[in-house]
Amino acid sequence: MPTVKTLVDGKTYEVAAGTKFLDLCQKQKVKHDFGCTVGSYGVCRLEVVEGAAHVDPITADEQDTVAMSTDHAGARLGCQLVIRGDIAVRPVA
Ligand code: FES
Repeated sequence: MPTVKTLVDGKTYEVAAGTKFLDLCQKQKVKHDFGCTVGSYGVCRLEVVEGAAHVDPITADEQDTVAMSTDHAGARLGCQLVIRGDIAVRPVA
């Protein structure tokens, strides 16, 4: 099972491959800001600091929302992030 380390709380969680980061946070009560939950406003920005190849590639819609909400290179949306292998993440301001 893939593991997800969140650098906010320093905890590591096991998830089934294909789990969305949003679903992990809701199930395990991980502290991460979410808003719309559908990729529209960019509140849930994060950076995959380890294992960036272990998530689904960014879509055009996600890229548009990221570009609208931050200039942080490599930012992703937590509500759209699908986990395929071990990763570590931290929020992006
Ligand atoms: S929660 Fe709105 S873009 Fe992710």
